[in-house]
Amino acid sequence: MSEEEETQDLQGSEETPINSPEVEAAVENTGEPEIAGEMEAADEAAAADNSIGEGESALEAEESINASVTERTDLEKGFVASDGAVLGRDFIIPGVGPGDDDPYKWHTGPKQVTTNNAIEIVDVVKQFGRTRILNGLNLGLPDDQISMVLGPSGTGKSVLIKHIVGLLYPDHGDVIVKGDSVPELSDDDLFEMRKKFGLLFQDGALFGSMNIYDNVAFPLRQHTDKGEEEIEHICTRRLREVGLGEAHFKMPNELSGGMRKRAGFARALVLDPEIVMFDEPDSGLDPVRTALLCELIKEVHAENGGCYMVISHDLGTARRIADFIAVLWKGRIVESGPKEELFDSDNEFVHQFLQADVVGPLAMD
Ligand SMILES: Nc1ncnc2c1ncn2[C@@H]1O[C@H](COP(=O)(O)OP(=O)(O)OP(=O)(O)O)[C@@H](O)[C@H]1O
Ligand SMILES: [Mg+2]
Repeated sequence: MSEEEETQDLQGSEETPINSPEVEAAVENTGEPEIAGEMEAADEAAAADNSIGEGESALEAEESINASVTERTDLEKGFVASDGAVLGRDFIIPGVGPGDDDPYKWHTGPKQVTTNNAIEIVDVVKQFGRTRILNGLNLGLPDDQISMVLGPSGTGKSVLIKHIVGLLYPDHGDVIVKGDSVPELSDDDLFEMRKKFGLLFQDGALFGSMNIYDNVAFPLRQHTDKGEEEIEHICTRRLREVGLGEAHFKMPNELSGGMRKRAGFARALVLDPEIVMFDEPDSGLDPVRTALLCELIKEVHAENGGCYMVISHDLGTARRIADFIAVLWKGRIVESGPKEELFDSDNEFVHQFLQADVVGPLAMD
């Protein structure tokens, strides 16, 4: 799958709704061929290991166990060989070029260790085929704050969101949401957990065949046993909040991109989520609408609280709404901390990225 298709997939199309089985299935399916491929490869490797093991002496078997222990230690260190291969194996990390034998020299980690975290990502490794996207990622996202994850294109920001909502599973490490380990949850518990989430995809990801009101009412009808009267009360309030009080009966294709995003935002909020994830809420909006959307996110957060995570390339958005910023590169967090500290950082990469400077460790390649 191309990167474009992948981005489109996460960020949604008009036909893929939030919190719906369709979107989950669609996103899950995108991972399947690779996961299936990986599993096949792993099976083949296991079969090969067995066949070697059977014919070998105990000493050689012990050596091979020791070798795998060494390998794991190298994995934890994230060792990268001079040809860009990690562990001397056949995989690459985007952003880590051949000859880059110290790829984490700018990764200074958290500026402040936060304690009140709604989400904890612990040593997460995720690889698709030969490409390792996350390579031992650690990050805590504080509760009751608006956090932003920034990073160059293709570094795995959207992949990170998929791990948090349980649409992708880590190869290694853990993702803990409100104290629960997401990879450990049963399907039923995962379904329950997802009710805590609001998700806003790039274009609002509305059902093209439903009017705005029905789109916003959808999660309530799907996930709760509330009556229509109560649903109407909630939807009317949320739609008014996002400035779409007059647009109940409009179809998504009758709305501008900005209005669709606001409708998606209203829908993301109807279940009063404790955690809201926005994947590039500001892409494709003009500067004024971006500023208005930022105001709206801040207002709604001030009113409802909770852990908001926003992915964006827009530094203006970061300045306006972020309380906490994390910068992702080469599969790990370069630095994370309160906004002011990150904008003031003397870390060369963070400085370059947050000042959009052409001079620095990040080049066009
Ligand atoms: N299911 C998948 N199968 C294979 N590769 C994938 C899959 N999902 C993501 N990738 C790859 O992982 C990398 C990171 O993708 P991701 O969409 O997370 O990037 P991003 O940081 O969100 O980028 P952007 O800022 O452009 O949205 C890309 O190279 C993408 O092609
Ligand atoms: Mg993305």
